Amino acid sequence: MTAGLKHLLGIEPLTPDQITAILDLADSYVDLNKRQIKRTDTLAGRTQINMFFENSTRTQASFELAGKRLGADVMNMAMQASSIKKGETLIDTALTLNAMHPDLLVVRHPNSGAVDLLAQKVNCAVLNAGDGRHEHPTQALLDALTIRRAKGRLHRLSVAICGDIAHSRVARSNLILLGKMENRIRLVGPSTLMPSGIADLGCEVYHDMEEGLKDVDVVMMLRLQKERMDGGFIPSEREYYHRYGLDAAKLARAKKDAIVMHPGPMNRGVEIDGDIADDIHRSVIQEQVEMGVAVRMAAMDLLMQGRAAKSKEVWV
Ligand code: NCD
Repeated sequence: MTAGLKHLLGIEPLTPDQITAILDLADSYVDLNKRQIKRTDTLAGRTQINMFFENSTRTQASFELAGKRLGADVMNMAMQASSIKKGETLIDTALTLNAMHPDLLVVRHPNSGAVDLLAQKVNCAVLNAGDGRHEHPTQALLDALTIRRAKGRLHRLSVAICGDIAHSRVARSNLILLGKMENRIRLVGPSTLMPSGIADLGCEVYHDMEEGLKDVDVVMMLRLQKERMDGGFIPSEREYYHRYGLDAAKLARAKKDAIVMHPGPMNRGVEIDGDIADDIHRSVIQEQVEMGVAVRMAAMDLLMQGRAAKSKEVWV
Protein backbone atom coordinates (compact mmCIF):
# COMPACT_ATOMS: atom_id res chain seq x y z
CA MET A 1 0.00 0.00 0.00
CA THR A 2 1.89 3.06 -1.21
CA ALA A 3 -1.13 5.37 -1.50
CA GLY A 4 0.63 7.03 -4.46
CA LEU A 5 2.21 9.66 -2.26
CA LYS A 6 4.86 11.87 -3.90
CA HIS A 7 4.98 14.80 -1.47
CA LEU A 8 2.96 15.71 1.60
CA LEU A 9 2.35 19.42 1.14
CA GLY A 10 -1.12 19.76 2.58
CA ILE A 11 -4.37 18.02 3.50
CA GLU A 12 -6.23 19.69 0.63
CA PRO A 13 -5.31 17.16 -2.11
CA LEU A 14 -5.80 14.03 0.04
CA THR A 15 -8.82 11.77 -0.31
CA PRO A 16 -10.55 10.30 2.76
CA ASP A 17 -9.10 6.89 1.81
CA GLN A 18 -5.58 8.28 1.69
CA ILE A 19 -6.07 9.93 5.08
CA THR A 20 -7.34 6.64 6.49
CA ALA A 21 -4.34 4.77 5.00
CA ILE A 22 -1.88 7.09 6.76
CA LEU A 23 -3.74 6.80 10.07
CA ASP A 24 -3.97 3.00 9.83
CA LEU A 25 -0.23 2.68 9.26
CA ALA A 26 0.43 5.21 12.05
CA ASP A 27 -1.53 2.98 14.46
CA SER A 28 1.07 0.25 13.94
CA TYR A 29 3.88 2.73 14.61
CA VAL A 30 2.21 3.74 17.89
CA ASP A 31 2.72 0.12 18.97
CA LEU A 32 6.34 0.06 17.79
CA ASN A 33 7.06 3.26 19.73
CA LYS A 34 5.93 1.58 22.96
CA ARG A 35 8.41 -1.30 22.59
CA GLN A 36 11.80 -1.44 24.20
CA ILE A 37 13.53 -1.56 20.81
CA LYS A 38 11.87 1.25 18.88
CA ARG A 39 13.50 0.77 15.55
CA THR A 40 12.87 -0.63 12.08
CA ASP A 41 15.05 -0.52 9.00
CA THR A 42 12.24 0.70 6.74
CA LEU A 43 14.21 3.80 5.74
CA ALA A 44 17.72 2.37 6.16
CA GLY A 45 20.10 4.05 3.74
CA ARG A 46 17.70 6.94 3.13
CA THR A 47 18.75 10.53 3.90
CA GLN A 48 16.32 12.91 5.60
CA ILE A 49 17.13 16.61 5.89
CA ASN A 50 15.13 18.85 8.23
CA MET A 51 15.05 22.51 7.17
CA PHE A 52 13.26 24.68 9.72
CA PHE A 53 13.20 28.36 8.77
CA GLU A 54 10.98 29.06 11.80
CA ASN A 55 11.57 28.12 15.41
CA SER A 56 10.21 24.76 16.40
CA THR A 57 10.70 22.45 19.33
CA ARG A 58 8.20 19.63 19.19
CA THR A 59 7.69 19.39 15.44
CA GLN A 60 11.40 19.26 14.63
CA ALA A 61 12.11 16.79 17.45
CA SER A 62 9.18 14.67 16.31
CA PHE A 63 10.35 14.51 12.68
CA GLU A 64 13.92 13.78 13.78
CA LEU A 65 12.85 10.95 16.05
CA ALA A 66 10.45 9.59 13.43
CA GLY A 67 13.26 9.39 10.86
CA LYS A 68 15.69 7.80 13.30
CA ARG A 69 13.18 5.17 14.39
CA LEU A 70 12.69 4.24 10.74
CA GLY A 71 16.46 3.85 10.37
CA ALA A 72 17.07 6.90 8.13
CA ASP A 73 20.16 9.12 8.31
CA VAL A 74 18.74 12.37 9.65
CA MET A 75 20.38 15.77 9.37
CA ASN A 76 19.09 18.98 10.96
CA MET A 77 20.11 22.10 9.08
CA ALA A 78 20.58 25.15 11.31
CA MET A 79 18.63 27.44 9.01
CA GLN A 80 18.95 30.48 11.27
CA ALA A 81 22.73 30.38 10.74
CA SER A 82 22.56 29.26 7.11
CA SER A 83 23.48 30.88 3.81
CA ILE A 84 19.96 32.31 3.68
CA LYS A 85 21.28 34.87 6.14
CA LYS A 86 24.01 35.66 3.60
CA GLY A 87 21.38 36.43 0.97
CA GLU A 88 20.96 33.06 -0.72
CA THR A 89 17.42 32.47 -1.93
CA LEU A 90 15.27 29.61 -0.69
CA ILE A 91 15.47 28.02 -4.13
CA ASP A 92 19.28 28.15 -4.28
CA THR A 93 19.48 26.55 -0.84
CA ALA A 94 17.08 23.86 -1.99
CA LEU A 95 19.03 23.20 -5.18
CA THR A 96 22.28 22.95 -3.22
CA LEU A 97 20.78 20.38 -0.87
CA ASN A 98 19.16 18.59 -3.80
CA ALA A 99 22.59 18.05 -5.33
CA MET A 100 23.50 16.02 -2.22
CA HIS A 101 20.75 13.51 -3.11
CA PRO A 102 18.53 13.52 -0.04
CA ASP A 103 15.43 11.29 -0.12
CA LEU A 104 13.25 13.39 2.17
CA LEU A 105 13.19 17.11 2.87
CA VAL A 106 11.14 18.25 5.85
CA VAL A 107 10.51 21.98 5.55
CA ARG A 108 8.98 24.64 7.79
CA HIS A 109 8.83 28.19 6.45
CA PRO A 110 7.13 31.43 7.58
CA ASN A 111 5.76 32.15 4.08
CA SER A 112 2.58 30.46 2.87
CA GLY A 113 3.31 28.54 -0.33
CA ALA A 114 7.11 28.46 0.12
CA VAL A 115 7.18 24.70 0.69
CA ASP A 116 5.11 24.00 -2.45
CA LEU A 117 7.52 26.14 -4.45
CA LEU A 118 10.50 24.29 -3.07
CA ALA A 119 8.91 20.92 -3.89
CA GLN A 120 8.78 21.91 -7.56
CA LYS A 121 12.55 22.39 -7.66
CA VAL A 122 13.86 19.20 -6.07
CA ASN A 123 13.85 15.51 -6.97
CA CYS A 124 13.10 14.11 -3.54
CA ALA A 125 9.96 13.86 -1.43
CA VAL A 126 9.03 17.03 0.46
CA LEU A 127 7.01 17.15 3.68
CA ASN A 128 5.45 20.40 4.76
CA ALA A 129 6.10 20.95 8.48
CA GLY A 130 4.10 24.20 8.43
CA ASP A 131 4.12 27.06 5.90
CA GLY A 132 2.93 30.45 7.16
CA ARG A 133 -0.81 30.43 7.75
CA HIS A 134 -1.38 27.92 4.99
CA GLU A 135 -1.08 24.24 6.02
CA HIS A 136 0.44 21.97 8.64
CA PRO A 137 -0.64 18.56 7.35
CA THR A 138 1.12 16.29 9.86
CA GLN A 139 -0.44 18.27 12.73
CA ALA A 140 -3.94 17.69 11.34
CA LEU A 141 -3.13 14.00 10.79
CA LEU A 142 -1.84 13.55 14.34
CA ASP A 143 -4.89 15.36 15.66
CA ALA A 144 -7.10 13.05 13.60
CA LEU A 145 -5.33 9.96 14.95
CA THR A 146 -5.68 11.25 18.52
CA ILE A 147 -9.41 11.87 18.01
CA ARG A 148 -9.96 8.51 16.31
CA ARG A 149 -8.27 6.63 19.15
CA ALA A 150 -10.07 8.61 21.89
CA LYS A 151 -13.53 8.58 20.30
CA GLY A 152 -13.36 5.30 18.37
CA ARG A 153 -14.27 7.07 15.11
CA LEU A 154 -13.39 10.05 12.95
CA HIS A 155 -16.78 10.95 11.50
CA ARG A 156 -20.01 12.56 12.72
CA LEU A 157 -18.27 14.25 15.62
CA SER A 158 -18.89 17.80 16.70
CA VAL A 159 -15.55 19.62 16.94
CA ALA A 160 -15.01 23.17 18.24
CA ILE A 161 -11.81 24.87 17.02
CA CYS A 162 -11.28 27.82 19.34
CA GLY A 163 -9.19 30.98 19.46
CA ASP A 164 -6.87 32.50 16.89
CA ILE A 165 -8.25 30.86 13.76
CA ALA A 166 -7.13 33.65 11.41
CA HIS A 167 -3.40 33.12 11.90
CA SER A 168 -3.44 29.36 12.31
CA ARG A 169 -2.26 26.79 9.76
CA VAL A 170 -3.26 24.15 12.33
CA ALA A 171 -6.88 25.35 12.20
CA ARG A 172 -6.83 25.42 8.40
CA SER A 173 -5.47 21.89 7.96
CA ASN A 174 -7.80 20.55 10.64
CA LEU A 175 -10.81 22.23 9.06
CA ILE A 176 -10.04 20.61 5.74
CA LEU A 177 -9.33 17.16 7.20
CA LEU A 178 -12.28 17.04 9.60
CA GLY A 179 -14.56 18.34 6.84
CA LYS A 180 -13.42 15.62 4.43
CA MET A 181 -14.19 13.01 7.09
CA GLU A 182 -17.72 14.41 7.54
CA ASN A 183 -17.56 15.99 10.96
CA ARG A 184 -19.40 19.05 12.15
CA ILE A 185 -17.03 21.93 12.78
CA ARG A 186 -17.60 25.05 14.85
CA LEU A 187 -15.17 27.94 14.85
CA VAL A 188 -15.19 29.83 18.14
CA GLY A 189 -13.41 33.14 18.78
CA PRO A 190 -13.59 36.91 18.48
CA SER A 191 -14.44 38.28 15.02
CA THR A 192 -10.98 39.91 14.84
CA LEU A 193 -9.41 36.43 14.91
CA MET A 194 -11.67 34.85 12.27
CA PRO A 195 -10.30 34.53 8.73
CA SER A 196 -11.92 36.47 5.92
CA GLY A 197 -14.29 34.49 3.69
CA ILE A 198 -15.36 32.47 6.68
CA ALA A 199 -18.88 32.05 5.29
CA ASP A 200 -17.45 29.86 2.49
CA LEU A 201 -15.77 27.44 4.87
CA GLY A 202 -18.96 25.53 5.58
CA CYS A 203 -18.75 25.63 9.35
CA GLU A 204 -20.68 27.33 12.13
CA VAL A 205 -19.12 30.43 13.68
CA TYR A 206 -19.57 31.43 17.34
CA HIS A 207 -18.28 34.50 19.12
CA ASP A 208 -19.60 33.31 22.47
CA MET A 209 -17.49 30.47 23.86
CA GLU A 210 -20.20 29.00 26.12
CA GLU A 211 -22.59 28.72 23.18
CA GLY A 212 -19.88 27.44 20.88
CA LEU A 213 -18.86 24.61 23.20
CA LYS A 214 -22.38 23.37 23.88
CA ASP A 215 -22.50 19.57 23.45
CA VAL A 216 -19.32 19.24 21.39
CA ASP A 217 -17.23 16.03 21.41
CA VAL A 218 -13.87 17.71 20.88
CA VAL A 219 -12.53 21.07 22.09
CA MET A 220 -9.45 22.11 20.12
CA MET A 221 -7.69 25.15 21.57
CA LEU A 222 -5.22 27.30 19.62
CA ARG A 223 -2.38 29.55 20.70
CA LEU A 224 -2.60 33.29 20.13
CA GLN A 225 -0.10 33.57 17.24
CA LYS A 226 1.36 36.90 18.27
CA GLU A 227 4.26 36.57 15.83
CA ARG A 228 1.75 36.77 12.97
CA MET A 229 -0.18 39.74 14.38
CA ASP A 230 0.73 43.23 13.32
CA GLY A 231 -1.84 45.14 15.34
CA GLY A 232 -4.16 44.96 18.32
CA PHE A 233 -6.36 41.94 17.71
CA ILE A 234 -7.46 41.59 21.34
CA PRO A 235 -8.06 44.20 24.08
CA SER A 236 -5.70 42.44 26.53
CA GLU A 237 -4.62 38.88 27.39
CA ARG A 238 -6.59 39.10 30.63
CA GLU A 239 -9.77 40.06 28.81
CA TYR A 240 -9.11 37.35 26.20
CA TYR A 241 -8.73 34.68 28.87
CA HIS A 242 -11.94 35.82 30.52
CA ARG A 243 -13.94 35.48 27.30
CA TYR A 244 -12.13 32.78 25.34
CA GLY A 245 -9.76 30.98 27.70
CA LEU A 246 -10.80 27.36 28.31
CA ASP A 247 -11.62 26.92 32.01
CA ALA A 248 -13.76 24.41 33.92
CA ALA A 249 -16.94 26.49 33.63
CA LYS A 250 -16.72 26.79 29.86
CA LEU A 251 -15.68 23.15 29.41
CA ALA A 252 -18.75 22.09 31.41
CA ARG A 253 -20.86 23.17 28.38
CA ALA A 254 -19.27 20.46 26.20
CA LYS A 255 -20.27 16.77 26.36
CA LYS A 256 -19.27 15.03 29.58
CA ASP A 257 -16.70 12.93 27.74
CA ALA A 258 -15.42 15.71 25.48
CA ILE A 259 -11.67 15.72 24.97
CA VAL A 260 -9.43 18.80 25.13
CA MET A 261 -6.67 19.30 22.55
CA HIS A 262 -3.90 21.85 21.95
CA PRO A 263 -1.10 21.63 19.33
CA GLY A 264 1.40 23.36 21.61
CA PRO A 265 3.19 25.44 22.58
CA MET A 266 0.57 26.42 25.16
CA ASN A 267 0.13 29.75 26.85
CA ARG A 268 -1.35 28.77 30.19
CA GLY A 269 -3.66 31.41 31.56
CA VAL A 270 -4.13 32.96 28.09
CA GLU A 271 -6.02 30.43 25.96
CA ILE A 272 -6.22 27.57 28.45
CA ASP A 273 -6.32 27.05 32.20
CA GLY A 274 -3.29 25.05 33.38
CA ASP A 275 -5.40 22.61 35.43
CA ILE A 276 -7.51 21.68 32.40
CA ALA A 277 -4.41 21.17 30.27
CA ASP A 278 -3.03 18.79 32.91
CA ASP A 279 -6.28 16.93 33.61
CA ILE A 280 -5.56 13.42 32.34
CA HIS A 281 -9.29 12.64 32.23
CA ARG A 282 -10.02 15.39 29.72
CA SER A 283 -6.80 16.55 28.11
CA VAL A 284 -5.19 14.49 25.31
CA ILE A 285 -2.39 17.01 24.76
CA GLN A 286 0.35 14.50 25.61
CA GLU A 287 -1.26 11.86 23.37
CA GLN A 288 -1.11 14.38 20.53
CA VAL A 289 2.66 14.57 20.95
CA GLU A 290 2.88 10.77 21.04
CA MET A 291 0.71 10.40 17.90
CA GLY A 292 2.89 13.00 16.17
CA VAL A 293 5.90 10.71 16.00
CA ALA A 294 3.80 7.78 14.72
CA VAL A 295 1.99 9.83 12.06
CA ARG A 296 5.28 11.26 10.77
CA MET A 297 6.76 7.76 10.59
CA ALA A 298 3.73 6.61 8.59
CA ALA A 299 3.85 9.58 6.23
CA MET A 300 7.58 9.18 5.54
CA ASP A 301 7.23 5.42 5.11
CA LEU A 302 4.42 5.87 2.54
CA LEU A 303 6.33 8.59 0.71
CA MET A 304 9.34 6.34 0.33
CA GLN A 305 7.19 3.36 -0.72
CA GLY A 306 5.59 5.58 -3.34
CA ARG A 307 8.99 6.66 -4.66
CA ALA A 308 10.33 3.11 -4.68
CA ALA A 309 7.31 1.99 -6.69
CA LYS A 310 7.86 4.97 -9.05
CA SER A 311 4.14 5.52 -8.87
CA LYS A 312 2.60 7.45 -11.74
CA GLU A 313 -0.07 8.83 -9.42
CA VAL A 314 0.78 12.22 -8.04
CA TRP A 315 -0.29 13.62 -4.70
CA VAL A 316 0.76 17.16 -4.31
C1 NCD B 1 1.83 24.92 15.72
C2 NCD B 1 2.51 25.59 14.55
O1 NCD B 1 3.71 25.73 14.52
O2 NCD B 1 1.78 25.94 13.64
N1 NCD B 1 2.68 24.25 16.60
C3 NCD B 1 3.13 23.02 16.31
O3 NCD B 1 3.44 22.66 15.20
N2 NCD B 1 3.22 22.17 17.34
C4 NCD B 1 0.93 25.85 16.43
C5 NCD B 1 1.52 27.03 17.13
O4 NCD B 1 2.67 27.39 16.92
O5 NCD B 1 0.78 27.63 17.92
